[in-house]
Amino acid sequence: MFSLLVLNGPNLNLLGTRQPEIYGTTTLAEIEADCVARGERLGARVTCLQSNHEGTLIDAIHAARGTHDGIVLNAGAYTHTSVALMDAIASVGLPVVELHLSNIHAREPFRHRSYVAPVALGQICGFGPRGYGLALEALVAHLEARPA
Ligand code: DQA
Repeated sequence: MFSLLVLNGPNLNLLGTRQPEIYGTTTLAEIEADCVARGERLGARVTCLQSNHEGTLIDAIHAARGTHDGIVLNAGAYTHTSVALMDAIASVGLPVVELHLSNIHAREPFRHRSYVAPVALGQICGFGPRGYGLALEALVAHLEARPA
């Protein structure tokens, strides 16, 4: 059974009330419960973690090596700023699916740049909370296709 980490970054704890016109009204707790349920259907154990702190996210990525097979990462605004997060992902060598609720490419120019993208397996954005399920599916398909 695959073990997957769903890691959410800054301000995503406020989902449900945070700029609902952009991010919708689904809460992070609801998204996380859906991720666990989707994981069960996919045959994967899903653990969820959220932090507003860059270093905590980096620690979680380091700790995932040896405990998880892959990560779904919504790094929030750190996506657009954090070389340290990019280095952490590159350092652990785990497959990471980059996830955003909104379509970052259709928003302000500063959101078009992602430091996660160059070290990610791929990116899913613009599908709201449904994107998490899509990301988990993509990650499991990738892991299943991996040579033993
Ligand atoms: C986000 C997009 C980021 O640009 C923003 O800073 C977020 C959320 C998203 O899920 O759409 O905090 O990652």
